[in-house]
Formats: sequence, C-alpha cells, structure tokens
Amino acid sequence: EAASKAGYDHFMIKEIYEQPEATRNTLERRLDANGEIKLDDINITKEQLDKINKIYIVACGTAYNAGLVGKHAVERFLKVPVVTDIASEFRYSDPFVDENTLVILASQSGETADTLSVLREAKAKGATVLSIANVVGSSIARESDYTLYTWAGPEIAVASTKAYTTQIVAFIMIALDFGLKKGTITKEEYMNYIAELKEIPDQVAEVLKCEDQIKEISKQLVDKNDIFYLGRGLDYSTAMEGALKIKEISYTHAEAFAAGELKHGTIALIEEGVPVIVLATQQRLFEKMLSNMQEVKARGANVISITEVTNKEVEKSSDSVIYIPEVDNILAGILSVIPLQLLAYYVAKERGCDIDKPRNLAKSVTVE
Ligand code: G6P
Repeated sequence: EAASKAGYDHFMIKEIYEQPEATRNTLERRLDANGEIKLDDINITKEQLDKINKIYIVACGTAYNAGLVGKHAVERFLKVPVVTDIASEFRYSDPFVDENTLVILASQSGETADTLSVLREAKAKGATVLSIANVVGSSIARESDYTLYTWAGPEIAVASTKAYTTQIVAFIMIALDFGLKKGTITKEEYMNYIAELKEIPDQVAEVLKCEDQIKEISKQLVDKNDIFYLGRGLDYSTAMEGALKIKEISYTHAEAFAAGELKHGTIALIEEGVPVIVLATQQRLFEKMLSNMQEVKARGANVISITEVTNKEVEKSSDSVIYIPEVDNILAGILSVIPLQLLAYYVAKERGCDIDKPRNLAKSVTVE
C-alpha cells in the first residue's frame, strides 16, 4: 500500500496532486487532430437536441457538487434550463421526465445505488440518459444510453478530489459539443473555450503551489467548531464542495452559504474569530462579494479569500488571500476547489484524523 502512495502520506494528497494529469487526460482523450471535441459515440443528433426541453443532472455527494457546476456550463452553452438534484431526492420527487428529457448522471464509481435507480427510472420513462463515470464498465456506464468517461485513474481515498475536477471538465466538454451542434454557441466561441480548457492542467499545477500557505492557514482552523464557505453563482457550488470536503475528513462542522442570503439569517452566526472562506472568482458578482466580505469582516470573522490574481482589492477585507490564475468564469471552479481540498486535507492532518478512510463513510454506497 505504501508503494502505491508513491511517497505521499495519504492517497488523498497523492490524488490531489494527480489533478493536472487527470484533467489533461480527460480532455485530451476527447480531442481530435484538429483540436476539436470528439464525442462520436455520444450520438445525440441536432434534431434530438432541439427537442430536449429540460435537462436534469443527478448524482450524490461530490458528484452532485460537480453537477451544480455542470448546470452553469450546460445552461450557458446549450440555453436549456437545467435542474441539478440529489439522486435520493430526485427519485422520489415524481420528476417531469419524458422522451424530451435529457438526464445526465455523474458518478465516480458508477455503482452508487441511488444514482443507478434514477437511471433505471429515467430510462423507463423514455428519457435519454448520459452518464459521466470514472470506472470503466461500471453499472451506470453500462446501463446508460451514452457514457463519457473521466480519465482520473483509480481514486482510492474516500474523499473525492480528482474525480470532481475531471467531472467538471467532462460537463464543460459535453456542453460545448452540444452547444456547437445545436448552434447555441459559435465555432469561434467553441474554439476559444477549448483553448482555455487546454490551459487548465498547467493552471491546476500552478494553484497547487499554494500548499505551504494552506498549511499555515490550516493551523488557524484546527480548533474551530464551525467554518463557513461563501460564494455566489458558480462560486456557491464550489463552496458546497469545499464544505463537504472538510466535513468528511476533518469532522469539522462546515456550511456553504449563498453570499446574498447572508443577510436573511446566516449572518447571525458570524462572530469574532469565526473562519469564513470566501470564493470570489465570478467577475460580474465580484463587487457584491466584496461587500459580503466586508460585512463578515466587520463582525470579526477570520476571512480567507480565494480569488483571481487580478483582484487585489480583496486584501483590504481579508485576513488571508489565496490567488488563482485569471480564467474564464465557467472554468474557475476547477482551480478554486484546489485550495479547498488542500485545506480540508491539512486541517484533518493537524487533527490526526484517518484521512483516507474517514469514520462512517464508504467510497461507494451500493445500498439505497
Ligand atoms: C460516497 C462517497 C463520496 C461520493 C459519493 C458518490 O458517499 O463517500 O465521496 O461522492 O459516494 O459516489 P459516486 O461514485 O457515485 O461518485
């Protein structure tokens, strides 16, 4: 087992560091000689896409959080309303699924029982089912109409990291391919996004250099009972994943909040010394995030911000700032989650937790 950790203390940190390669493989396996996305096996025609009037993205756990980011990409490029739901909720909510519905499932293992039962139900109602899976030949991959595999490689740590970032890459590729096919994005936009996507693996490697800074910050969080994560839009989805990660492995209570909702209740929880992790990568929401930062700072929060390197203004209202490279808003989640994964890892390590096998959790949950 030590050998397969390749010198790392835990599988989780090894897998965090595998993300440049995992995102690169996921993308490059699906690019042709002209640098265009090839999804020939996902043979949904323009006529079928024109008929699809609703899209559900359904998953559990971290894959659900990736699906929240996926919604932003699919709505942006395909111009169809998307609902992202938790499989165990969706299954019993009597959803409006028919032959004009596309259901996109995301699952690292491809064996999660709740997600699998959604698949069967959706197919029985005539929907087209496309899955994003990591394990080749898994039940979800086999039973779906179409599958796009992520090329994350085996993920051993219970807390998912590289599966999440590669799932986001997969969602963006699907959205770009379908958008081009349907005519809801231009060829020029499509090629520009692919060019940006190709930069992502190196940018992930760049963000990983924040490790020492994160180690320092983790020391401030080790004794805290509650940690809050704030964001708007896509950043709110990333905040959800950051909070889940730290809960899973460090057993610290954490919650993600939509920053605009703070004033409707949550701000009552903010007092001296409470850590608040603020994601501020979405340019059109940046000013609003700045004012949320100021609100929590004024109440004594320890504000830790994650933003793009061009947004130096955050320093005035933050105790610590972690910078990521400048990137299109839709891609930002792949980079901004990296410090959150590292933070969860180092807080758990400081607390002496069993990082790769957290209590009560299983890598794959095959019972409903
Ligand atoms: C379990 C794991 C989570 C994972 C979830 C969904 O709860 O502990 O890390 O996100 O299942 O798994 P899947 O294999 O469907 O992505």
